[in-house]
This record gives sequence, structure tokens and C-alpha cells, in this order.
Amino acid sequence: MKKSAVIGWPISHSLSPRLHGFWLDKLGIEGSYEALPVEPENLDDFANKLKSGELGLKGANVTVPHKQEIMAFCDEISPLAQRIGAVNTLVVKDGKLLGSNTDHYGFKTNLEASGKLPENPSGAAIILGAGGASRAVCTALEELGYSPIYLLNRTLERAEEVANDLGGSIIAGSLSDLPKYMAECQILVNSTSLGMKGQNPLDIDLSDLPKEAVVTDIVYNPLMTGLLEQAKARGNPIVDGIGMLLFQAIPGFESWFDPSEKPVVTEELRQYMLEVL
Ligand code: ATR
Repeated sequence: MKKSAVIGWPISHSLSPRLHGFWLDKLGIEGSYEALPVEPENLDDFANKLKSGELGLKGANVTVPHKQEIMAFCDEISPLAQRIGAVNTLVVKDGKLLGSNTDHYGFKTNLEASGKLPENPSGAAIILGAGGASRAVCTALEELGYSPIYLLNRTLERAEEVANDLGGSIIAGSLSDLPKYMAECQILVNSTSLGMKGQNPLDIDLSDLPKEAVVTDIVYNPLMTGLLEQAKARGNPIVDGIGMLLFQAIPGFESWFDPSEKPVVTEELRQYMLEVL
């Protein structure tokens, strides 16, 4: 039986076992995917046991707080994960630990699959937030063709650090710079935790945002965040955040379980995942 897992600390709220379980069932694969709590001080022990085969796992997903620290234990890291500075997917191959980052793929593929993007995306992108997720969002928007990319964050230094690390056409700023860039924006992304259940709402004025600009949120609980409601009400195309979670899981699933059919993101899967939010 092929086995994989997600590691984090804490990990009990992870939706990944439900997601991979859905595909294992659908595709009739005899496999398992479980949530494994790994404390930070036990990360090296986990990595060694994973690599040696002692855990019987083909690999694993990696989530908070291990996405950076796990890199020290990888034998190879994909160039994209190296650039983003975080690994969220591990594959054991010939006794080696290979690390990659599939958040970039998840965010980009979700936008592409939504059918809301123009044929050849171009123009300015605005990303709010410079936390863990925003680096993958920046590289994905860049690859889609947007330029310049304004990365605006409450803490300016954090945005500057990301812009420096990533290079390219990323311009760092503060959240208070938002009105300055709004009128040229072709895609607006919330990658802050604002708008999430239990957090403050993201309170911004969209009145200068061009009507054709796509608005998307990486927050998916609730699915329709205040930002998306506001954008929808004024007629902007919107893309919700659950798809990023679903699409980012595909590359790992394929590496570990080697399915004869590709796992796909369907409306049935979306509804199945939304049931537990
Ligand atoms: P993740 O890894 O999921 O992106 P994170 O690293 O904790 O999470 O980042 C959270 C993001 O939300 C950060 O950009 C954070 O801004 P700071 O870097 O200034 O902390 C942003 N954020 C959280 N609460 C905020 C608030 N009340 N107002 C503005 N931005 C906020």
C-alpha cells in the first residue's frame, strides 16, 4: 500500500487527508494519507526516518511551521522552491529527499482553470500581504504575465525582504500605498489573513479599481470573503480561494500514488471539501 502524509505542528485541522482521501477513493487506489504531528525539535528525526524508508511513506506535504526548516534536510530542492524559499512537498526517491513547492502551481492553475483571466494577462498586479503564501503568489503572477507587481504589506520591511529575495519586477510598498496603484491594477490578490473566520475584515476601497480587474483571495473560510463580495457587487470577475488548496495537492498526489488517471478538481470535490469548513 502506498502511503503519504502531511506534517505540521499543530496539524489536526488540516484538510489535506480529506482531499487526498477523496482522490484515493475516486481513483480506486489502495493508499493512505494521514496527518502527522511533528514538533519542530523532531523535524530532523522525521526527515531521517522518511528518507530511510522507516516510516513507509513515499513522501509528505509540509505545512506550518516547517516549510522553511525542512529545506535543510532535502537532498535536492527544485529551483522554484529555492526561489520561493519554502518547500511544501517531499518525495522520497532512491533514498534521497526531493523538495518542491506546489503553492505556485496551485495558485496559478486555479486562476487559469477559473476561466476569468484574459487570454494574455498583462498589466499591474497588486498583492496584499507579504507572509508565507505571498511569495508563491508573486512568482505565479509573474509567470502569468503581470508586471509590475506591487507587493503591499502592513509591515513594509517584510514586503521589501520578499521583493529583494525574489527580484524581478516586484515593487514593495505599504498598505497605505494601495490608492496610488489601484487605477492601474489588472489583478488584486489578498494574501493576508484578513477576512478569515475569526479575523478582522479586509477593509479597502475598490472604487478606483478597473471593472475588468480580477479579484481573488487566498482565504477560503469563508469562501465568499468580504473582499470577494465587494468585488462581485461592483461587477469585477472574482476567483475564490479553495481552488488553490485543491490544485496545489495534485503534483504530490501524482508523485506518491502514481495514478493511472490524473486526479482532477471537480465541483463534487469542491463541495465535499466545503462541507467541513
Ligand atoms: P501566511 O504564511 O499564511 O501568509 P503569515 O506569514 O502569518 O501567514 O502572514 C500573514 C499576512 O497577513 C502578513 O502579510 C501580515 O502582515 P504583517 O507582515 O505586517 O504582519 C498580514 N496581516 C495579518 N494581520 C493583519 C492586519 N491586522 N492588518 C494588516 N495585515 C495583516
